[in-house]
Amino acid sequence: MNILFAASEVAPFIKTGGLADVAGSLPPALAKAGHQVHVILPLYEGIGEDWRSQMTFLKYFDVSLSWRNVYCGVFELERDGVTYWFIDNESYFKRAQLYGHFDDCERFAYFSRAVLETVGQLNWYPDIIHCNDWQTALIPIYLMEDRYRIPQLSHARSVFTIHNIEYQGRYGREVLEDILGLNPSYFNENMLEHYGDVNLMKGAIIASDFVTTVSPSYARELLDPFYAHGLDGVIAAHQGKLRGILNGIDTKLYDPATMSSIAQNFTPRAPVTGKKACKAALQTAVGLNKDPNVPIIACVSRLVGHKGFGMVVDALHRIMELDVQMVVLGTGDWHFEEAFRAAQRQYPGRFSAQIMYSSTLSNVIYAGADIFLMPSVSEPCGLSQMIAMRFGAVPVVRETGGLRDSVPPYNKFTGEGRGFSFANADPGELVWAVEQAVSLWSTDKKAFRALQKAGMTADFTWKHSAKEYLDIYAQLLN
Ligand code: GLC
Repeated sequence: MNILFAASEVAPFIKTGGLADVAGSLPPALAKAGHQVHVILPLYEGIGEDWRSQMTFLKYFDVSLSWRNVYCGVFELERDGVTYWFIDNESYFKRAQLYGHFDDCERFAYFSRAVLETVGQLNWYPDIIHCNDWQTALIPIYLMEDRYRIPQLSHARSVFTIHNIEYQGRYGREVLEDILGLNPSYFNENMLEHYGDVNLMKGAIIASDFVTTVSPSYARELLDPFYAHGLDGVIAAHQGKLRGILNGIDTKLYDPATMSSIAQNFTPRAPVTGKKACKAALQTAVGLNKDPNVPIIACVSRLVGHKGFGMVVDALHRIMELDVQMVVLGTGDWHFEEAFRAAQRQYPGRFSAQIMYSSTLSNVIYAGADIFLMPSVSEPCGLSQMIAMRFGAVPVVRETGGLRDSVPPYNKFTGEGRGFSFANADPGELVWAVEQAVSLWSTDKKAFRALQKAGMTADFTWKHSAKEYLDIYAQLLN
C-alpha cells in the first residue's frame, strides 16, 4: 500500500506534544510492515539546520486556495524507511510558534491543499491518506471532490485520527469561501456547520472514510458530553466508523538499558542498582535531599487544567504530609507554576519545581522517580505514563482514556497490575491513590518491585497498533 501520513508536527523534527511522537513513530512501524510510507508536514522555522542540511529540494509550484495562488516548495528527507516531505512557504511557516497565530485557519487550509497538490505534482499517489487533528482536517473534506477531479485519487481513502477533541479548529462563517475555498453548500449541519460556526474537526469526522482515536476508552468517552466538547452528537452518528487504538511509544528511544542521558543504565531483570544511582542523580539535579529512604513522586507534563493540576494543587499539602519527595517538571498556566514555586519554598529539599521544558531532565526524572503521578481529567492516550513505566517509575493515574487502558491497577490479592488508579476527578481520591502507592513502597518492597517489573516489561511497541491500522486501511480499500 501507499500510505500518506499528514501531521502538523512530527518528531524528531519538530514537537510541541504527543501528536509529534505518534507521527514520528507510527509511520516507521507501518513501513517496517512492508508498505510505502510518506509523511508530510510544514517546514517550520523551528526545524533546524541539522535537518535542513539533509533535505533535498524537489520542486516548487503554486497552490490555489480560494482566490489565492500561493508558493509551495517541497523538500525531501529519507529516514527509517520513511520518506518525509516538508512543505515550504515562509510567509505561513517562518514564525517562532507553531500555532496560535491570527491566520491559523488559512495556514492549515493552505497546508491541507498543498498536501493534495503535492501528490499530483510528484506523481506519487496514496491509497490511504491518514490525517491527524484539526490542522489536517480539511484534507478528507477536499479529498471528497478531488476524488472526482483527479482519476489517480479516485480509489484513495481517508482516515482521520483524533488526538485531542478539545482543539477543533472552529472559525466564523466568513472563512468558508474566502479562505477554505469551499462552496456555500458545505455550510450545513451535516458537514462543516456547528452552532453557527465552521468546525473543521466536525467536517473531518463526517467526511473521512474512517475515524480513529488514540485509546479504546477515549473512543467510548467521546460519546459523553463531558469529554466531547460539543461533538458527542456527531461522534454518536458516526460511531460505526470509529475505533480506539492505543498508541505505542518509541521503545528504542525510551530504553533505560541504552539511554545515554541517565546516570546508570539498567534492565527489567536487574533494575535495583541502576535505579538507585538514577535516584541519587535526580535528587542532585533538582535540589532534593540526597536520601534513598523516601520515595520520589514525579510529574512531567504541561501544567494545565485538563492534566489534573487543579487536583494536584488542592492535594499538595496532604501529599507532602507523607514521608515523600516530589518533583514537578513543566510549564503552563501561571497559577499552577506559582503554586509549585511556592511549594518549593515551603518544603525545601523535599519539593522541587522545575518550571521549564527539558527533554533531558524529563529522562532523568523518569529514570530516578519511584512514583509517577498523572491524574489527568481527560487523557486521549498519554505517553508519559508508558515512558515512566519503561523506566521503572510506578504510575498513579486517574481512570480515563489511555491511562485507564495502559495502567491496570494493583490487585493486592493477586499482585497483578502496573500501578495505582482512582475513578473520580477529586483531590481526596488522588491523595488516597498516592497513599496506596507510598505505603506499598515503604512496607512491601517485594510487591512494589513486582509492579515496577510489570511496567518495565509491558509491551508498548507499535507492533500491535500498527497492525490494527493496517487492517483498517485494507478493509477500506477492499
Ligand atoms: C494528544 C493527547 C494525548 C495523546 C497524544 C498522542 O496530545 O492529549 O493524550 O497521547 O495526543 O496521540
